[in-house]
Amino acid sequence: NWSMDDFIDLQIQHIRETVGDKKVLLGLSGGVDSSVVGVLLHKAIGKQLTSIFVDHGLLRKNEADQVMDSLVGKFGLNIIKVDAQERFLSKLKGVTEPEKKRKIIGNEFIQVFNDEARKLDGIDFLAQGTLYTDVVESGTDTAQTIKSHHNVGGLPKDMKFKLIEPLNTLFKDEAREIGEKLGMPEQLVWRQPFPGPGLGIRVIGEVTPEKLRIVRDSDWVLRDEIAKSGLDRDIWQYFTVLPGFRSVGVMGDGRTYDYTVAIRAVNSVDGMTADFARIPWDVLQNVSTRIVNEVDGINRVVYDITSKPPATIEWE
Ligand code: XMP
Repeated sequence: NWSMDDFIDLQIQHIRETVGDKKVLLGLSGGVDSSVVGVLLHKAIGKQLTSIFVDHGLLRKNEADQVMDSLVGKFGLNIIKVDAQERFLSKLKGVTEPEKKRKIIGNEFIQVFNDEARKLDGIDFLAQGTLYTDVVESGTDTAQTIKSHHNVGGLPKDMKFKLIEPLNTLFKDEAREIGEKLGMPEQLVWRQPFPGPGLGIRVIGEVTPEKLRIVRDSDWVLRDEIAKSGLDRDIWQYFTVLPGFRSVGVMGDGRTYDYTVAIRAVNSVDGMTADFARIPWDVLQNVSTRIVNEVDGINRVVYDITSKPPATIEWE
């Protein structure tokens, strides 16, 4: 698509003119948008870009490594990775209310980022992966008021950066296309939507390392089976949720009393409304068998067959 090639060339030129010989800081979340901005900026200004990747420990299995392998390994970005799982977990200790968890995760994210940013000298610009839809939605989106999303905003007030938002005229699909044009790997560019608070809102109630392990490992099994069945590009979003109650089961000769995991899979255009995905029974059966066999602490798997509305996509 020639217009996307044009877009890239024009942006690179524009970024170079704007930045000159100054330095730019980028916050990487592991998501598509900030990753695309990273690769684009690196192409434009190379070593003048420094990125900070806050790993809050709430990402999916292998996700942080994949981001690092690709952006550092393949594209040569200079990334400061902060392993902040302990910090997030201690802040989340004892917290059960969904909106409170979101606020804590969002605030902590900004804190960790700022702590790192303060250590750097001579930065003039801050780059962000803001999309056109983020700009438009940040005032009016009802989902925003129902569940506070933390993707936009949160700039440190005492740090005076000029903003660079090269994607802020683009829709999500266009940002993905730019990523592909820049040679980014498919699994990064075509990632399903993933919320900023990550697995923190897929463990219902208090987040503990044990519960994170269960939701992360069961999610990995689900994604693996969906990929094997070739449905990964057909289902808009799919993941597992840990409601946190236990029920009775039987395994071998013994009675078990373990957690239930729920599978959530939906089709949607923009996340505002959604239809539960009709995953074939045999795929669901494989997922169920594997989750119970491979993930310690689970003896029951259920499938969420509610659409949005009345349910939301995430359980929190
Ligand atoms: P809900 O659960 O509101 O989700 O039906 C709609 C879409 O938004 C995502 N989502 C979030 N994204 N921060 C985000 O960046 C959040 O706090 C958040 N909550 C939900 C959700 O994954 C779905 O794609």
